[in-house]
Parts: sequence; structure tokens; C-alpha cells
Amino acid sequence: MMADSKNHWGQIYATKKSEEVSWTQQTPTTSLNFLHSFNLSKNASIIDIGGGDSRLVDCLLKEGFTNVSVLDISAHALQRAKDRLGEKASCVNWIEADITEFKPLRKYDVWHDRATFHFLTEGNQVAKYVAIASNFVNPNGYLTLGTFSEQGPAQCSGLSIRKYSEKTLNSALRKHFKKLHCILEDHLTPFHTVQNFLFCSFEKLA
Ligand SMILES: C[S@@+](CC[C@H](N)C(=O)[O-])C[C@H]1O[C@@H](n2cnc3c(N)ncnc32)[C@H](O)[C@@H]1O
Repeated sequence: MMADSKNHWGQIYATKKSEEVSWTQQTPTTSLNFLHSFNLSKNASIIDIGGGDSRLVDCLLKEGFTNVSVLDISAHALQRAKDRLGEKASCVNWIEADITEFKPLRKYDVWHDRATFHFLTEGNQVAKYVAIASNFVNPNGYLTLGTFSEQGPAQCSGLSIRKYSEKTLNSALRKHFKKLHCILEDHLTPFHTVQNFLFCSFEKLA
């Protein structure tokens, strides 16, 4: 499963430019709004799970955050982000890993994931993800997840995904996290189609 997924994403990032994939955003405004709502100090440790070549890391560095990590299963995706950032790439902790096998070396104040969690379609994968997030987000730290909503597409990047409602996302996390805020949002893809996302923030229980 891991090898399949790694090959799939390696192939995507080797063959498609960012304007040729549905999830691309010029500015990840909703993610930033959620992160701002946590009133973080600039040295808060933030990890972007399945960050790919998202510009979230660029925005966080520009805002002065000094402790940012980006994790992705695809080395190629991380390389793209590094190339774009140039010298500033050395300020980021880059992690090539399958999130369901991730063995963090530290805890994080904020865990962000846009459009990665929803690829975990098996119950045991979801359980592994939630266990890792709950063990490695600091008490009273934050988690923010963006997934396809119940009105969203059934697939992303040719792979099946699991859609979430506020209720089902909360059920997946509530043992370890308290729900703070959820919104539904239409993402306009570079192909001028619309994908409905659910974004929710959570606080790690102490
Ligand atoms: C739809 S893209 C979203 C990228 C980015 N979060 C964004 O909003 O632009 C999904 C990303 O998750 C990564 N990914 C998929 N499965 C993964 C896994 N099991 N572990 C880590 N990363 C994964 C892919 O390589 C890809 O970069």
C-alpha cells in the first residue's frame, strides 16, 4: 500500500506542473485564517502534513514563523518546494515519510493537513494517523484538517478518498481533540471546476 501510494505521488509530481493538478492554490487563505485564529507565537512548531509543494510554507516563513516542518510521501514534491524557496528552504525541516508510518522525533504545537487525511480510506490507516497526531501534538496544541466534504468529489488525483461531514470528522478525532470551528468552502481548481471542502480546527485535550 505504502509503495503504491509513494509511486503514485512520485509519478504525479514528476509529470504534472502545479497548474495541472486540482488542489493548487496561489495562496492558502483558509489554512492561514485557521492558523491565525490560534494566536501563535512566531516560534510555535508547525507541521504541514502532505504539504506537497503548497505555498503555505512560503507564507508562514514570510510571516516570521521560525519552526516550520513540511512532511510528504513524495521527495519530488518537497524538492519542488525547496527549489521555489531557494535559500529560505534551509529554514524548514523537510520530512519525506508516509504519514501512517511517521515516527516523529519531537512534538508539534500545530498540525495542519489540507487534502491528505482524506486519502486514508481504510479504518486502520485512519486509526494510525489519529494515533500519531494525538501522540505528537502538544497538550492544548492545535490540529486543522481540510478534507473533501459530503458534497465534494469522490476522487482526488485519480484515487478514492473518504468524504467527511463535521460530525464524522469530529467522531474520528474526539477521543483526543476538542472541535473548535468548522467551515465548508468551495475550492476553485485551475480547471475552473469547484470542489467542496470541509475545514475544521481542533484543540488537543490536555
Ligand atoms: C491533494 S495533495 C495536497 C497537497 C497540499 N496539502 C496542498 O494543499 O496543496 C495531497 C498530498 O499528500 C501527499 N500524500 C498522499 N498520501 C500521503 C501519505 N500517506 N503520507 C504523506 N503524504 C501523503 C501527496 O504526495 C500530496 O502532496
